Amino acid sequence: MIRTKKSVVGLDLGSSVVKAIELTLEGNEPVITGFSRVELPPGGSVDEAVQQAFKEGKFRSKRVVTGVSGQDTVVRYLSMPRMTDAELRQAIQFEADKLVGSDEEFIIDCAPLGRVDGDEETDPAAGEMKVLVAACPQARLEDQAGMVSAAGLSPIAIDLDMFAVANAWELCVLPDTDGLDADDTRATALVDVGAKSTAINVMRGGVSCFSREIPIGGADMTQAVSRRLGVEGFEAEAIKRASEDHQAEVRTAIAPVLEDLSSELALSMDYVEHNEGVTVTEILLSGGGVLAPGVVEAIEQSSARPTRVWNPLEGLRVDVNRLDAEELESWAPSLVVAVGLASRVRNQ
Ligand SMILES: Nc1ncnc2c1ncn2[C@@H]1O[C@H](COP(=O)(O)OP(=O)(O)OP(=O)(O)O)[C@@H](O)[C@H]1O
Ligand SMILES: [Mg+2]
Repeated sequence: MIRTKKSVVGLDLGSSVVKAIELTLEGNEPVITGFSRVELPPGGSVDEAVQQAFKEGKFRSKRVVTGVSGQDTVVRYLSMPRMTDAELRQAIQFEADKLVGSDEEFIIDCAPLGRVDGDEETDPAAGEMKVLVAACPQARLEDQAGMVSAAGLSPIAIDLDMFAVANAWELCVLPDTDGLDADDTRATALVDVGAKSTAINVMRGGVSCFSREIPIGGADMTQAVSRRLGVEGFEAEAIKRASEDHQAEVRTAIAPVLEDLSSELALSMDYVEHNEGVTVTEILLSGGGVLAPGVVEAIEQSSARPTRVWNPLEGLRVDVNRLDAEELESWAPSLVVAVGLASRVRNQ
């Protein structure tokens, strides 16, 4: 019997934790066949964490998808005349200078997001299409691919972290969501609270219509605990995580951080509703940052929309013989990016 098993490892190079998830296609079904998670000590090397993650994960594949995020990545939503994919690729190169406004060499990629239908005679927007454009400095992509290769792995793609979140949602949640179509005005906001930053990606009818990165995350909460209790960073981190023993103190300490984060998110929600004509009907949270006490409530209250933490494992089968299922489950919300990166196994 010929067994065609295809595996890809999604390697999330988070600013505080390296996370790796291996997805294997068994028939058409993606199954989690590997998992590892390595926390970066302050000033620790990402290269070493990647090597450790692969040593511990015992993955069957060396094919790796990583992601990028942060200030030097550029994401834009453009309206362009309808054209073929080949024409679009050419046209985008002409937009490059306007998009990146820097002398550095950038790699640019784009994807059509859907068309505006209607009568072209009366509606100037009809006949146009929405296009997502992403750009990242070439040097950064080369460094990242080089680091993965130096660890003895094969880098097969580099995605944007915030779109990996969308891919994970599409893989794990969307099949169960009925009644979604491109004309729907209901939208879901996917919000990943990391250590250094929080990414928001608003999905309408399964398609991204807005995304943004907010430079606030779990590290700011730790810093707030450290300042308020007058303890060193590592101790503040431990206190924050063991919050049942220090509930009240931690909640008070991180309240201003949560207020800033929630109001930035609420502003984004208002912006997207105003500009895209959608209603954000739910907020789905992920990322390690949401494990701190009061995060869900703060975001729900300030944005006045139903908010919950989602678990990417609920939509996926796990090969329990190959990994520690309990450990996997306990970190589930923070594995969304890694799952989304690995979801490329479907296109292999
Ligand atoms: N039990 C917990 N309670 C509170 N916070 C926690 C807990 N466990 C982890 N965190 C926080 O989660 C954050 C790490 O989450 P995650 O792995 O999603 O971040 P990252 O991907 O490394 O960061 P980024 O996406 O910003 O680069 C850290 O700030 C950490 O303090
Ligand atoms: Mg992250």
